[in-house]
Amino acid sequence: MADTTAQRTLVLVKPDGVRRNLVGEVLRRIEAKGYSLVALQLRTADRELLAGHYAEHEGKPFYEPLVEFMSSGPVVAAVVEGHRAIEGFRSLAGATDPTTAAPGTIRGDLGRDWGVAVQQNLVHGSDSPESAAREIALWFPELG
Ligand code: PPS
Repeated sequence: MADTTAQRTLVLVKPDGVRRNLVGEVLRRIEAKGYSLVALQLRTADRELLAGHYAEHEGKPFYEPLVEFMSSGPVVAAVVEGHRAIEGFRSLAGATDPTTAAPGTIRGDLGRDWGVAVQQNLVHGSDSPESAAREIALWFPELG
């Protein structure tokens, strides 16, 4: 019988994660949880891609610094698949703020937000099936 709980989510290892050589550690945690990689790329995102990706946040005070930070270096984009992968990856990632993210999560264990001007919280994960479909189409149009 087909697994109706399987989902795809878009994961980004942000520029701070790539700079700190944490790509392998993030992917290890994803795979250890039992999720599979469906697609993977290393690339520096331009403002057009990021404007689409963060469209819902346009106008918020953190929007400009966020786009600036996200375009400051390469990111790793991955399509991750598995049982309730959208909610599951966000649970693996932990809370947005690395200082208060729970130990055991990616941000809680590895995040460093002191001495930086913007939220450098290592990873992004889609927050709903609708966002996942939109984000996967933006980053991996060939999967559409
Ligand atoms: S909101 O307004 O509740 O939807 O915001 P939130 O979900 O917490 O965060 C949305 C994305 O913005 C990033 N963020 C920030 N970036 C830079 N500076 C500040 N101060 C800041 N606050 C939030 C946050 O990491 C989210 O990015 P993604 O890529 O989705 O993780």
